[in-house]
Amino acid sequence: MKENITVLGSLNYDFLVKQERMPEKGETYTGEELIELSGGKGANQAAQCGKLGLNTYMIGKVGQDQYGTIMIDSLKENHVNTSYLQKAHTRSGMSFVHVMPDGEYYSTILKGANFELTTKDVDEAEDVIKQSKIMIFQLENPIPIIEYAMAKAKENGCYVVLNAAPAKTITQEMYDYIDCLIVNESEASFYCSQKVDTIEEAKKAGRTLHDLFNSLVIVTLGKNGSIAFDGNQEYFQPAQKVKSVDTTGAGDAYTSAIAYGIYHQFDIQKSMAFATEVSAIAVTKDGGHSSFPKIEDVMEKI
Ligand code: RIB
Repeated sequence: MKENITVLGSLNYDFLVKQERMPEKGETYTGEELIELSGGKGANQAAQCGKLGLNTYMIGKVGQDQYGTIMIDSLKENHVNTSYLQKAHTRSGMSFVHVMPDGEYYSTILKGANFELTTKDVDEAEDVIKQSKIMIFQLENPIPIIEYAMAKAKENGCYVVLNAAPAKTITQEMYDYIDCLIVNESEASFYCSQKVDTIEEAKKAGRTLHDLFNSLVIVTLGKNGSIAFDGNQEYFQPAQKVKSVDTTGAGDAYTSAIAYGIYHQFDIQKSMAFATEVSAIAVTKDGGHSSFPKIEDVMEKI
């Protein structure tokens, strides 16, 4: 019986600077506060799955530095099995995030150990892939390795979720492996080469992306909610009205909550409503695994 959910992805140590605005070109600007956190889209998604009570494994790579140890410990604290995390002879992945007063952010990542992940690392995790009902991927590791792992996931009957972030060109084979594609407005616009700002534009993009990927497509629109298209029906879920403090990782929380819905065979609308609640809670606190809700925090709200 397949019981696990496995995330293959990135681990970044995040340096978050809270500041009033971004500097102008050539300007030295003074920020207000530095917050250091375990992050990375993959690790965030794994931590959120763990906090929702899913039997979660993570495949990825950290450096042999103190950040690698901190990030592994944070995943363990959030009930993620870290036996398949490898160590590289390079520094851990890092992210430098500038967070504005309304919670919006600007982020730059350093590749580090995430880009040292190999097919051998994936092969070593084959047993856990075989036992996984769902595998979740993002795009902060080398594309050929993600493609290799997706092929293994499909061979072993897993449902494949791709959060195609950050947006980059992927191979035709990967298009064929994906069962559920989750993108935000700017990623949707990258993949379908059309502007996606409004709900109507997102609905149109959902149809275009469905034609390209032949999968369930979900487009998130921040405070404008999210839309989905499954080839037959269009869905819309409005966002929760909350006071946002930091939106870093909100898309990761949403992705994991959709995977939770799929795992528990929720219908699409219910999965989107659940994911909206999970990400709404995540944005009310500063980023990182501690901002993600546990299953009991969500259940008392829905
Ligand atoms: O999605 C948010 C994450 O993106 C951050 O934690 C940062 O590390 C980048 O990978």
